Amino acid sequence: MKIGVVGVGYVGLSTAVCFAMKFPTVAIDLEKARVSALNEGQVPIHEKGLEALLVKGLSSKRLKFSLNPGELIDADAIFIAVGTPGNQDGSIDLSQVRASCKDIGDVLKSSTKRPLVLMRSTVVPGTARRVVKPLLEDGSTKKCGTGFGLCSNPEFLREGQAIQDTLKPSRIILGSFDDFSLRSASSLYRTFYGKKPPPVLATTPEGAELIKYGSNSFLATKITFVNLLARACELFPGTDVNDVARGMGLDPRIGAQFLQAGPGFGGSCLPKDVRAFIKSLRDMGVDGSMLESVLQINEVQPEHVVALAEARSGTLLGKEVAVLGLAFKAETDDLRESRSIALLERLSQRGASIRAYDPVAMEKAKTELDYVVYSSSAKDCIKGADLAIVMTGCRQFKSLKPSDFVRLMRSPVLIDARRIYDPRAYSRGINYVGVGLGERAAL
Ligand code: UGA
Repeated sequence: MKIGVVGVGYVGLSTAVCFAMKFPTVAIDLEKARVSALNEGQVPIHEKGLEALLVKGLSSKRLKFSLNPGELIDADAIFIAVGTPGNQDGSIDLSQVRASCKDIGDVLKSSTKRPLVLMRSTVVPGTARRVVKPLLEDGSTKKCGTGFGLCSNPEFLREGQAIQDTLKPSRIILGSFDDFSLRSASSLYRTFYGKKPPPVLATTPEGAELIKYGSNSFLATKITFVNLLARACELFPGTDVNDVARGMGLDPRIGAQFLQAGPGFGGSCLPKDVRAFIKSLRDMGVDGSMLESVLQINEVQPEHVVALAEARSGTLLGKEVAVLGLAFKAETDDLRESRSIALLERLSQRGASIRAYDPVAMEKAKTELDYVVYSSSAKDCIKGADLAIVMTGCRQFKSLKPSDFVRLMRSPVLIDARRIYDPRAYSRGINYVGVGLGERAAL
């Protein structure tokens, strides 16, 4: 069996290196520099375990990267994993999906096999049927179900854990158009996962597309919900959102995960997917205002972190503010829709003098934000600062001791926007504020 992957972003690349553990795999991309670097074993993104698998795949000769879609000609299964960036109105840009379908259509036309196409890119409900299938059928002059197979097969990979999530996914969703497509996809995954396959759910293509948007919108809603509760907790002395979340999470119908209050959700997926889903619902005549509220609440969360800082420090004008964490979450270099960037903009508007540190995302940040002074370590960042704001839960930040803040800062005001510290320990000698934590005075 030979595997093809179109698009080597973090989804395509994780898929390619993992499938190359078992099958010959060729991954196609348009970007020359990226393809050459990958063929040299250089990873373009920060992803745990990726480099090792890439090097292994290349040296086993089972994995290669190419600019030429013609290399997909003898593939048995082709994953479409190209980007679907958001447009201004919330809709998604399908130009990369269309271009890849055109390339794959040409390949299917000359193929002597009946390959399976798996739609991995995130697309709104109805896209596989309205866009992908007709483009593949027109390009190949073959029918889906007889000439080739097609399944909507969304991914649920978390950045930073994409390899682990590919090798041990929570579920495989197969939204198929016909029996042949479903049989081919089931057989591919059975062969890949062997004795311990993940749960497989078969549904329609639209069902699969909705599972993807439903999952990400639900996760975003859960985070926003806990952030809303955090605001309420802050009004009651001694009340802690972490206790409230734990108490709720013990109910198996609610579940404990994704109830960590913080500065809001960011990244390349959750915000974009919620916006796209709202737009798609609107286009279908369905009122998605509940999700609009989720986005609105998320949008003001960085402003709320600034308000917490001002409540303790007074005006931020001319203050030395240390921001720990720049990426959208810990241990990644991805700055897309990072709440930390939203915070930095607000701090800068208030005339604060900003220094920042992130163990992984600094180099990227330097190319994007020129009004920030970059520190060489977490300790260097807080040294001499009037105020420190923790925006991600990086290990390096967790290992800072209360005495570090007391000793190094000019005036130890600490805003823990991720709740990584124990308030009791970090309140001694420190003006400590945690998101979702009522004033300690009444404890
Ligand atoms: C998300 C989903 O978790 C994946 O399942 C999905 O496959 C992926 O999007 C995608 O669509 O490709 P990811 O964007 O890597 O994955 O990030 P998450 O780990 O979900 O975190 C998203 C944001 O929510 C981050 O800013 C994180 O800090 C925040 N978050 C998460 C919270 O504020 N509280 C929580 O309890 C959990």
